[in-house]
Order: sequence, then C-alpha cells, then structure tokens
Amino acid sequence: MTTFSADRSYAEECDAADPLASFRERFAFGDPSLIYLDGNSLGRLPLATADRIADVVRHEWGTGLIRSWEHWIDLPSRAGDLLGSQLLGAAPGQVLVCDSTTVNLYKLARAALGARPGRTVIVTDDDNFPTDRYVLAGIAAEQGADLRLIRTDMDTGVTAAAVADAVDAATALVSLSHVAYRSGALADMRQITGIVHDAGALMLWDLCHSVGSVPVELDACGADLAVGCTYKYLNAGPGAPAFLYVAAALSGVLRSPVQGWFGQRDQFQMGPAYDPAPGISRFLAGTPDIAGTAAVEEGARLLAEAGIGRLREKGMRLTSYLTALADEWLTPLGCTLASPRDAARRGSHVCLRHPEAWRIGRALIRAGVIGDYRTPDRLRLGPAPITTRFTDVWDALDTTRRIIEDKSYQDFPAEPGRVT
Ligand SMILES: Cc1ncc(COP(=O)(O)O)c(C=O)c1O
Repeated sequence: MTTFSADRSYAEECDAADPLASFRERFAFGDPSLIYLDGNSLGRLPLATADRIADVVRHEWGTGLIRSWEHWIDLPSRAGDLLGSQLLGAAPGQVLVCDSTTVNLYKLARAALGARPGRTVIVTDDDNFPTDRYVLAGIAAEQGADLRLIRTDMDTGVTAAAVADAVDAATALVSLSHVAYRSGALADMRQITGIVHDAGALMLWDLCHSVGSVPVELDACGADLAVGCTYKYLNAGPGAPAFLYVAAALSGVLRSPVQGWFGQRDQFQMGPAYDPAPGISRFLAGTPDIAGTAAVEEGARLLAEAGIGRLREKGMRLTSYLTALADEWLTPLGCTLASPRDAARRGSHVCLRHPEAWRIGRALIRAGVIGDYRTPDRLRLGPAPITTRFTDVWDALDTTRRIIEDKSYQDFPAEPGRVT
C-alpha cells in the first residue's frame, strides 16, 4: 500500500485491501449511490436482521403464539451475554438487553445512589449527552442530591484529572460517556473508574457511541455499571432495545427503582410482594421487545464475526483518512477539526467545525451524502467501519469541498433545525 495521498486511487487501494470489505454485501443498500456517514446515529439494516425479524413475526409469533415464550423469555440475557462476551468485555450474567438507554440510565443511576447512603453528590460533565444530564438532574432533584457538572472542552472530552478534581467523600456516583457524542473523544475508562473507586463512589458508563466501534473492557476496567444503545454501530434498528451492565459483585446488592414483574424472583408464582431476582434479571422491568431484541442479537453476531479488533483498526484508519483529507482540502476553506487528532483518543466519528456547518450538512444531503449536524457549528461524520469504504470518505470530502467552494450551501436557510 502506498502512503497517504489525496488522490482517489489511494482510497481505491485501501478498499481493495480491506479485510472487512465483504461485510457490505450483508447489508441492505436501497440506494447504492448514497454515501452514508451517519451509522453512528442509525446503523444500516443487516439482511440477516430483516430475515430474522420476519421469522420472529411470521413463525415464532404467527405459528408459535404463546408457546414461543419458552425460548423468548431468556432472550434479553442471551443477547446480553453475546454482547458482553463479544463487545463489552463482560463475563456472562452481567448484561441484559432491555428498555431504552434513557430508562436503563435511570434504573442504574437511581440504584447506585441508593447503594451509597449518606453520599449526596452525582457527578457528570456539562457536555454529556442531553438525556444523561436530564436523567441525572431528575434523580438528584427527586432524591435531594446535588448534580455536580465537570466543565469539559467539547472537542477534546472529559479528562481523568478533571474527574479527580470533581470527586470527594460525598460523591455517590460518577456517570460519563465513554465516547463523546459530538467530538468522538474517548475517555480513559480504566483510569477514570479507578479514580472514582478511590473516592468510594460507583462508576456508570454510557457506551452508546463505543459499543461496536471501540473495544470495551468493562470487567477488566472494574466498571460498576454501564448502559448503551443498539441502533448505532450495532445496527439493530430505530428504537431497538438498549443494554445495561451491572458488575456481578453488585447485581445482588443494587435495587432497581422500577419494581416490575420481570425482575421478580419466581416471576410466575405471582406472589403478593416484590422480591427481586437474585442476579442481573432484577433489572428487567416489564415484557421485553422480542423482535427488537432479536435484531440486537443479529447485529451483535455480525459485529462478532467481523471482530471488534478489526473494526477498531478500520475505524481509526477511516477517521484518520477523513481528517487528513479535511486538513488538505477543507482547512483552507475555513473548517477546523473539532475532535481529538490522535485516532487512539477518539471513537469512530469526527466533527468538523465551520460557521456554516448546518447549511453545508443540508447541501450534502441534497448531493447524496448523509452526515449529521451538531450544535453549535459542527458537521459530524461517522464512517461506520463495517459498511463504509475509503472511497466513500473520499467522495464525501470531495463533495464537501465543492459545496464550500461554490457556496451552494447558501441555497438553504441559515436556521438550524432537525436533520432529516
Ligand atoms: C451518548 C448517548 N446517550 C443516550 C442516547 C439516547 O438514548 P435513548 O436511546 O434512550 O434515546 C444517545 C443517542 O444518541 C447518546 O448518543
């Protein structure tokens, strides 16, 4: 392979040598000419998932009817164990697929606060994803606790030193995103978890942008709790159930604030009072979404087959290629990199900053390149490694360069709003 060149032939060579190239054939491509750099928001549809959901609906539900609950009942923990072993570095019995990230965050953060009586501070950072900040603020208000916000640079992400400054003997829980939703900055899970434990607090990680894009080692890092969604790199589809992780040492100790019957010991005894199941299943609430959980299982199988090591390596190469082209073509046109420059310090997406990011994003969509806009002035580009080619990155950046040069983004109103 030749060294980096801004010539398209370099991207063609990288694609030809890509060990993951054949995985594209395993996905639905409704419009083959579309360049999709938003797999970090909603991943593409795996063909196996379409088949599996059809099978769940037509056969397991259509024919099996209620009898299918015999094998459906364990699906949240089966899919959880698969995610745990292949993508999260978690031994069996610690991961469940259920509910949404938001709801799981509530359940685990509230349970953590309950496990640290006398401690009244929850710590997060001011650039954490909105739902995380809102949920934690809600719990703090409900429990008479304080929410302490670490001030974080939105482009470089939260640091271990800032966490060390923020925690003290009053801290019950620290909750942070592993990969920042805007910049892609990757937090040091091992070091931060250690700092939080030294302060006697529990650590809860949001893995929405990390699962399937970076290797995660929850057990090895000593993490207590984690949540994450499955519709991004896991390709499980819009609104597919999320996952939660509770370290084995804690699952019999923490109590879910949602005392649902799926978390009950001897569920079908229909007993008079809530008595939580001894292990992780106490964090289930109500009847699980079976079609959605089946989609998570398919997505996890596909990523397991690709291998998180190879996905990570390709993700770093794709984003490095993207930033190198941006340096060459877009920096002279007023763009700056709004993500860590070192690939090892970011996930699989990057942000480019430009005062007209919103309108450029609209013009890109018109030209058949889907990325994302993020406030205040960022174009977020996520080349999901399992389906994105190096030539896609070249074409997307070339289109961006033309749109900025010819100012065709001015066809769009300046007012930011919802993308797509
Ligand atoms: C870091 C992070 N947390 C949480 C969420 C959303 O949670 P939910 O699936 O409950 O909407 C997102 C969505 O993009 C996210 O990026």
